[in-house]
Amino acid sequence: AQLPLAPTPPMGWSSWNKFGEKIDDATIRAMADAMVSTGLRDAGYRYINIDDGWQGTRDADGRIRPNAKFPDMKALTDYVHAKGLKIGIYSSQGPRTCAGYEGSYGHVRQDAQSYADWGFDYLKYDLCSGEYFYDSADTVKRSYAEMGAALEATGRPIIFSLCEYGRFDVGSWGRLVGGHLWRTTGDITDDYKTMAQIGFDKNGKAEYAGSNGFNDPDMLEIGNGGMSEDEYRTHMTLWAMSAAPLLMGHDLRQTPPAMLKLLENREVIAVDQDARGIQGKAVRKDGTLEIWAKPLADGSVALALFNRGDAAARMSATAADAGFSAISAVRNLWTGGTHTADALGFDVPSHGVVMLRVEGK
Ligand code: GLA
Repeated sequence: AQLPLAPTPPMGWSSWNKFGEKIDDATIRAMADAMVSTGLRDAGYRYINIDDGWQGTRDADGRIRPNAKFPDMKALTDYVHAKGLKIGIYSSQGPRTCAGYEGSYGHVRQDAQSYADWGFDYLKYDLCSGEYFYDSADTVKRSYAEMGAALEATGRPIIFSLCEYGRFDVGSWGRLVGGHLWRTTGDITDDYKTMAQIGFDKNGKAEYAGSNGFNDPDMLEIGNGGMSEDEYRTHMTLWAMSAAPLLMGHDLRQTPPAMLKLLENREVIAVDQDARGIQGKAVRKDGTLEIWAKPLADGSVALALFNRGDAAARMSATAADAGFSAISAVRNLWTGGTHTADALGFDVPSHGVVMLRVEGK
């Protein structure tokens, strides 16, 4: 069974991309503070997710304890909740997590109960170690179903994030084991090439995405500095067009103004968070030029004109790209301007994008 906790893709922040294992109570609290002071919370980002590296050892009864960097998990979740935010935690079904910490193997129900007792709202469950006994669709599915059921049995609403890199056609069974999102690829890194490969070419099948179950092409790198502003605009646009979870992965205390603009654009976020939950896809490709469409709940369509090439290019959108015979109104989501239907030609920078919301019939 699956609890309807993610009608739209989860939005928030996760510690891994920027901090890796260098996390502690104070850093997590600082991210919660910055989520509020930057306005990101009010733009829709709600989850503060602790990724790998919080775990200590088990006590005599087998209960997992956080390591010394997290002295009091309940106090930490209370702090984050008091800011109007939610908070997430991380584990693996194997004996060890991906970074070598204590996994949930043999302690699944107990761990789910600990997360619930501590006040967590989200679990990322990452298939690391123990690959030798999670080596088939059946064993992997069962390991997720076991944790999905354990989370549900706690009675606390907890979003369940599956991370097994898109193996065994996870999108076809992710919901059935209680999952609300499932990773579709290997790890993102802070460079255009990797981001583009994941976002354009490797994310899961659009048919699998929808309310309460989304393909997860991994966390955002916006603000980490490895891409140009045009490339980060492409990153944000591609994730929004894909109805992807928007989990930031930078130090929120150091968000350059230009990056804040990318992350807080309400109209772009609205495309990601659209109630229909449709994952957009390419409707036209011409070499390195791609036009993507995402039908929205109000009958309008988001269009993105992506230039994956190494030189600026002229690109034009048509009514047919949006599935319309005629376009009646066009809003440019990154400039805030409007256009008329007979003037939908744009100079798109290398690795850049133009994003539109069009109405028509
Ligand atoms: C895997 C996941 C990452 C991160 C690390 C933590 O690589 O894909 O997102 O959670 O493990 O060790």
